Amino acid sequence: MNRLLYLLSLAAIGVGVHYETRAVAPAVVRQQLQPVAGDAAARGRLLYQSYGCGVCHGAEAKGGFANPNSETEGKVPGLTMVKEGYLERELVQKILDGAPRIGKADAKGQTPPYRMPGWKDRMTRAEATDLARYLISLYPKKAAEDKWR
Ligand code: HEC
Repeated sequence: MNRLLYLLSLAAIGVGVHYETRAVAPAVVRQQLQPVAGDAAARGRLLYQSYGCGVCHGAEAKGGFANPNSETEGKVPGLTMVKEGYLERELVQKILDGAPRIGKADAKGQTPPYRMPGWKDRMTRAEATDLARYLISLYPKKAAEDKWR
């Protein structure tokens, strides 16, 4: 009996190995597929890191860095909720154009040190679109569900 189980498991492993070797594409093919692989939001996440958006907006766009006297609660805003205020193309435009001036909480107070830079000269529209997709994807599932309750 034990011997039979042993033989069966050997056979199963054999099938597994065979399946594995057939399923995996040769390395050369995999490399060529890489640029297409991954969706826009995943590419956007990488762009968010490489353009250093997180320096101001925080890791995973959670925000919170101090921007004294800005009307956005004295902080650089987080970006996880932008889906509520922007259509995708509006977000793309915002990223490309930036915001030339930033609103003050107290009109007589200091100018907040940080404003949103425009990225037009430094990134393509396709990249800004991937970034917008990424930001939209950060919208908490919970918030979306609560809205429709
Ligand atoms: C130098 C700091 C800084 C950097 C770097 C920066 N931002 Fe911003 N960003 C800001 C500030 C400050 C605001 C708020 C502007 C305002 O309220 O007028 C803002 C606003 C935004 C908004 C609008 C948010 C809203 O709720 O209206 C988006 C979208 C955005 N940034 C995306 C990005 C992306 C994407 C990158 C990277 C490519 C980036 N930012 C890099 C400072 C920065």
